[in-house]
Amino acid sequence: MTAYSDTEIPVGGLFEEERSAEIVNARISEQANPRLREVMEVLTRHLHAAIKEIEPTHDEWLQGIDFLTRTGQMCSDWRQEYILLSDVLGVTMLVDAINHRRPKGATPNTILGPFYVADAPRYEHGASICLDGKGEPTLVSGRVLDTNGHPIAGATLDVWQTNDDGFYDVQQKGVQPDYNLRGLFTSDAEGYYAFRTVKPRHYPIPSDGTVGNLLGDLGRHPHRAAHMHFIVTAPGFEQVITHIFTPDCPYLHEDTVFGVKKELIAQFVHQTDVSTARRYDLQVPFLAVNWDFVLTPA
Ligand code: BEZ
Ligand code: FE
Repeated sequence: MTAYSDTEIPVGGLFEEERSAEIVNARISEQANPRLREVMEVLTRHLHAAIKEIEPTHDEWLQGIDFLTRTGQMCSDWRQEYILLSDVLGVTMLVDAINHRRPKGATPNTILGPFYVADAPRYEHGASICLDGKGEPTLVSGRVLDTNGHPIAGATLDVWQTNDDGFYDVQQKGVQPDYNLRGLFTSDAEGYYAFRTVKPRHYPIPSDGTVGNLLGDLGRHPHRAAHMHFIVTAPGFEQVITHIFTPDCPYLHEDTVFGVKKELIAQFVHQTDVSTARRYDLQVPFLAVNWDFVLTPA
């Protein structure tokens, strides 16, 4: 004899191990936002499946809750530990890949990262963004094109990178000049752009928090492959958030946030061309990168 009559059994039934996800999902109201419903149904199914596969002890489950709690407590206006977690788990790159499937030949996206600053100074063609005088001078130049190879005039290239010590200006306020190694450039009537910078170096992502500890516990290093960041925008075209990677970085094939794509690995070539050196106020030999950005229609 059971204490419940059939009419009292809740929607989906009483909790059972075998049907656990189904029972939880049956509680979602028909009136719930359909997208929220879909997201929560899928997450609940996969979370219950993971728990059934892992079979955590109570202590292990509480350790997991504690990790998430401490991750939240690390977050502030300038530190987003959950995005960092998404980055090192490859989820940031996966969401980006799903949302930016581009035709062959178009410049692919990669990770934005936390060190973008929206109000970098705008510079003339060929200017230097290196304000601390450290590092190997490098000329980066090329064109902004559409997928038919036609130039895009008036495109904005927003560029930023670490200094030669492996830090962004915003990580070293008062040590580096403000806006060191960041700036905005505009493509000319033939789509050409050029700027001077220094060869980027690999650097560790912020690793003094829960994500850094997790990487350590997993025997993973925190290093990003050496890169320059770009956001390229032009009216009528899809914005590209991307990088240029150096080809000789020891972390090229093991970027901790999975940001490297083979289409984004550039050649950094030593140049001895005196007229180019004179034009851009460089000394020979200097490093040069020739790089075109190819945008798709919006
Ligand atoms: C970056 O490239 O700036 C970056 C990306 C992901 C996490 C941390 C830093
Ligand atoms: Fe970066």
